[in-house]
Amino acid sequence: MSVVCLSRNILAVRNSGIMVMVRHAQTATVPAPEPRIKKFQVYRWDPDTPGDKPRMQTYEIDLNKCGPMVLDALIKIKNEFDPTLTFRRSCREGICGSCAMNINGGNTLACLNKIDTNTSKPTKIYPLPHMYVVKDLVPDMSNFYAQYKSIEPYLKKKDESQEGKQQYFQSMEDRQKLDGLYECILCACCSTSCPSYWWNGDKYLGPAVLMQAYRWMIDSRDEFTEERLSKLQDPFSLYRCHTIMNCTKTCPKGLNPGKAIAEIKKMMATYKESILHAKHLQDHYST
Ligand code: SF4
Ligand code: SF4
Ligand code: FES
Repeated sequence: MSVVCLSRNILAVRNSGIMVMVRHAQTATVPAPEPRIKKFQVYRWDPDTPGDKPRMQTYEIDLNKCGPMVLDALIKIKNEFDPTLTFRRSCREGICGSCAMNINGGNTLACLNKIDTNTSKPTKIYPLPHMYVVKDLVPDMSNFYAQYKSIEPYLKKKDESQEGKQQYFQSMEDRQKLDGLYECILCACCSTSCPSYWWNGDKYLGPAVLMQAYRWMIDSRDEFTEERLSKLQDPFSLYRCHTIMNCTKTCPKGLNPGKAIAEIKKMMATYKESILHAKHLQDHYST
């Protein structure tokens, strides 16, 4: 085989008497795309800096050099411009719930939220609303987790002697009742969008925790439904929900905590009726 150069862009390759012409790949330089500079205005507050007051800090990012999600922009800012910027993130795919924050006025997950590519409008990022702030975009989740713990989010049996010895079976139909509930990642986007939770977050459990309370109440294997209901009878834990439905609108996983709360209220009505009935019978037989 022999190779002959015929012109700047054409090679001739002779093989077994056959001449083949091959055009070179053009190597003309492609002009760099116009930068697409987007402003990100981010809430900043550092309690370790004496006298520091909450403020908004603006960062400019070329969207041509950034991933598509708001979390990509935050990671780029932290890696390349400002390592002091603080936020939570882990999975980067809407599973861990740690990157929940308020973006352009709505609570959502930064890793699932696409950057608005309209460069004339800044993207505004705050921590989840009405929560104490630990630093920058990191809210204090202690109260939220304590409330979650208070509903005992695990299977409870009256007789625990069989625990660990056998599986607790469930029919396919009963298992399906948990769909739309078990997927909750406890990001708290819903609770922190709820006006009732803003004003009474110390006593009202909020949509995320109530939805998990409901998830265990209707689990066919759980034997503490009545006790779970009885713990929510006070005026605040459950009844501060006024069905405003901000919670359902904001859930980044498409779940419906407002509906779960409505279902608990229905169960509660039946439960209260049964208590009244039992009391009535007791009165009747004791007189
Ligand atoms: S219901 Fe939705 S918004 Fe609320 S904690 Fe669960 S995943 Fe987050
Ligand atoms: S439906 Fe209830 S829990 Fe959901 S936002 Fe409204 S008041 Fe809050
Ligand atoms: S990083 Fe895990 S949900 Fe966003």
